[in-house]
Amino acid sequence: MAGGGAMSASEPLVLGIETSCDETGIGIVRGSTLLADAVASSVEQHARFGGVVPEVASRAHLQAMVPTVRRAFETAGVAPADIDAIAVTAGPGLAGALLVGVAAAKAYALALDRPLYGVNHLSAHVAVDLLENGPLDEPCVALLVSGGHSSVLLVPRVGGEVVTELGATVDDAAGEAFDKVARLLGLPFPGGPPIDRLAREGDPGAIAFPRGMTGAHDPPFAFSFSGLKTAVARWVEARERAGEPVPVADVAASFQEAVADVLTAKAVRAAREQGVGHLLLGGGVAANSRLRALAAQRCEAAGLVLRVPRPGLCTDNGAMVAALGAQLVMQGAAASALTIPADSSMSIEEVLM
Ligand code: KG4
Ligand code: ZN
Repeated sequence: MAGGGAMSASEPLVLGIETSCDETGIGIVRGSTLLADAVASSVEQHARFGGVVPEVASRAHLQAMVPTVRRAFETAGVAPADIDAIAVTAGPGLAGALLVGVAAAKAYALALDRPLYGVNHLSAHVAVDLLENGPLDEPCVALLVSGGHSSVLLVPRVGGEVVTELGATVDDAAGEAFDKVARLLGLPFPGGPPIDRLAREGDPGAIAFPRGMTGAHDPPFAFSFSGLKTAVARWVEARERAGEPVPVADVAASFQEAVADVLTAKAVRAAREQGVGHLLLGGGVAANSRLRALAAQRCEAAGLVLRVPRPGLCTDNGAMVAALGAQLVMQGAAASALTIPADSSMSIEEVLM
């Protein structure tokens, strides 16, 4: 472990750095209290390509890093020398983008002589909830839905060193399905927010889109969204071929309903089977208004407490990384070596590198 002389293990002050995709996120927390959440996004530079361009994202992280760190320190009202530990997303994500954050975190760890924690982006999406909703009933079940992942997880303890994946998507991630369907409806990238908005004007029962992986012989906690995306494409094409207008709001609402229905049904079932009290939602798709509403309704019916952070903390940010780092420090986890790599395919079950 490097440095860390006067670390306060009860309420450590932790700097969190997130650069796995297109957000440069810098968070500062004290224990489970959020002090600063500064985010610089390069999303506008990717919009015209319809997806994140890795090289463009890496360069944007380089440019945004120092100003975003400064902004976070100003907001938090603390100085770099006050920091007890540095946490950084070590994976999974875009290799070049991750490298910028990991290199910056190592530089701060070395310069400030403080320990470094290379953490898993997906576990950080789970940990961020503690900043808003207080202590979790553990173990808990988490539904993690982002642009790259859709999984149901059993989390014995946030910041504990293992997580068990109960099921995952066999093809597209939920966020990827939102992005692809938005594209075929002519909506901007990323597709989640515009579909969410448009769906409010549509009828979720207008079109019965398929619910993938819900057959009697399908694995109970696996997902599949690629057939759904194809079904939406076929439906829209058939309308266009017939020379009929495409009711985009109805398509958006019906598609969103299919995703929210499958995700919440499986997550609630997993929570009941595991006998836990809390179901937690995390990741960018957890910002979806229909997913949140349906999860609330189904959790209530099942006697479960739903835990979900505000939408701004569901999408990528640095506060989530700092939150997980603080939990690791408080639980006495050994810090990472200063030689850790960025691991673009870090396993979802590995919390700390
Ligand atoms: O967690 P995140 O910010 O980045 C990754 O780790 O991937 O998730 C990004 C994904 C994108 O696919 C985006 O379209 C989706 O989250 N998303 C949403 C909403 N806001 C963001 N999907 C549905 N509804 C939303 N309101
Ligand atoms: Zn994410």
